Amino acid sequence: MNQTLGSFLEEKRSLLNQQMEQQIYSMQIPETLRNSIMYSIEAGGKRIRPVLLLAANEAFGGDENRAIAPACAVEMIHTYSLIHDDLPAMDDDDVRRGKPTNHVQFDEATAILAGDGLLTAAFHVVTSNDHLTDREKVFLTRELSKASGAEGMVAGQMLDMEAEGQTLTLEGLEAIHRHKTGELIRFSAVAGAFIGGADSSQLHHIESYAKYIGLLFQVQDDILDVVGEEGEIGKPVGSDVSNNKSTYPQLLGLEGAIEHKNQYAEKARMALKEAGVESTLLEDLIDFISDRKN
Ligand code: IPE
Ligand code: IPE
Ligand code: MG
Ligand code: MG
Ligand code: MG
Repeated sequence: MNQTLGSFLEEKRSLLNQQMEQQIYSMQIPETLRNSIMYSIEAGGKRIRPVLLLAANEAFGGDENRAIAPACAVEMIHTYSLIHDDLPAMDDDDVRRGKPTNHVQFDEATAILAGDGLLTAAFHVVTSNDHLTDREKVFLTRELSKASGAEGMVAGQMLDMEAEGQTLTLEGLEAIHRHKTGELIRFSAVAGAFIGGADSSQLHHIESYAKYIGLLFQVQDDILDVVGEEGEIGKPVGSDVSNNKSTYPQLLGLEGAIEHKNQYAEKARMALKEAGVESTLLEDLIDFISDRKN
């Protein structure tokens, strides 16, 4: 892995962990609920979305202190989405981030509430931050609610559930991926660039870069569900097959899925060039996401 991105990841992960912990401990939360929330936050995770947000902010010369709150917020929403995604009514998975899933460790009701708590806390974190202007808070709240809600990630989860057992067209599958995974990744890059001071044309190209990164990310997730190792990916292999999910490997075969992934990576690289910003971090993130083993 590229050293620069490697050390950036390591440094920002520990900063984010410390910030999220501080946010959660500053809230008056019933003990079991706090334990359940902290269990999933502390279980780890790659922190790709908030790291992308911080990298995009840095690419435009932004002050990191102003990007921390939205970075924590998007990771909190992502963590909530995983807790709910694993529930028996959804993917019914028992392992996440190398540990028993939240509902296995606690119980279903607690897991549902931990997810609800993380989702709403995310908006509190953004709107109560002192480093952001009111205008920025409105922008971030509007974009994050859209990206995570019934038009965004939640829409993707619904389409994913409805597609179980079906054979979709490539367009149909792409629409699921764009929403369930792409939207939070799109938000992350756009929010970071916006806070960093990108102009509207740059924002447009960064958004396009992020859309391809999002697709790339989920295609690799689908591939890892086939060829990954549970010990390495921290979640069960073969979950998609046992749930009859529509995935890239299921539709195109493994080779076809890899070919598609490479095309998305190339498109992400072109979009980044068009944004006209020099950022080895954003460039290296493309390969990192494409080649990730977990
Ligand atoms: C898993 O996301 C769910 C998808 C959207 C594919 P990540 O692979 O980012 O999971 P963590 O946060 O590293 O556990
Ligand atoms: C989940 O996609 C995307 C979310 C919104 C959480 P998956 O169901 O493929 O994620 P994993 O494989 O369980 O992490
Ligand atoms: Mg799922
Ligand atoms: Mg799942
Ligand atoms: Mg998956």
